[in-house]
Amino acid sequence: MTKLIAGNWKMNGSLAANEVLLSALASGLPQAMSCEVAVCIPAPYFAQFQALALATPALALVALGSQDVSNQSAGAFTGEVSAAMLKDFGCRYAIVGHSERRQCHGETDALVAAKAQQALAVGITPIVCVGETLAEREAGQTTEVVKRQLAAVIHANGHCISEIVLAYEPVWAIGTGKTASPEEAQAVHAVLRAQLAAATEHAGRVKIIYGGSMNAANAATLLAQPDIDGGLIGGAALKAADFLSIVSAAS
Ligand code: 13P
Repeated sequence: MTKLIAGNWKMNGSLAANEVLLSALASGLPQAMSCEVAVCIPAPYFAQFQALALATPALALVALGSQDVSNQSAGAFTGEVSAAMLKDFGCRYAIVGHSERRQCHGETDALVAAKAQQALAVGITPIVCVGETLAEREAGQTTEVVKRQLAAVIHANGHCISEIVLAYEPVWAIGTGKTASPEEAQAVHAVLRAQLAAATEHAGRVKIIYGGSMNAANAATLLAQPDIDGGLIGGAALKAADFLSIVSAAS
């Protein structure tokens, strides 16, 4: 399966810095790419991305993604951004259920599932994040936690579940420099693949990507695992050279 390398810029960037980073990506990407590349950027910069992509043909190879989406379609929901609005700006992906949103904004499994549903309804691929905390891993609850998080999304989305991208992001590996070992990550990916297989005959085509301190040095071994179909990259996505190395490890 074609791998997906998606950058999650989180709340980083500025007009000036984005232009430098995106231009460096455009000039460094191989012309014939054998993996998919996306950048999930802060919503205020979607228009800047669109304008740069029009002016820079190589950027057309990079898909645009958001870092969140509302669980509502329109109306009196101050501060929210709807899936239709993301679609207007050409978003191909929307991250939902990132652990930072689950932890800092109290997002529940049901809310995350509703967000995935909103994205799917307009043809945006939700990148659904699941992952256990360090305490949960140490208590032997990893499988139970990720299966519970995915079950809510399967329950709300039925057969459309084959249209999602799933991201396994162990919370203890995010921004800490601690990566799950390739074997640890593969074991969880295999559990998730089996859960998808019980829900859809198309489980084999669902990309299950890994996130959590993936970098230029560890990407190749993680991406070599049979059920690791790409990466969701935080810190290393903010440095063009590092992100491009990960892209070439996936190509
Ligand atoms: P880091 O790559 O900085 O650990 O972040 C991972 C992440 O949260 C991607 O969504």
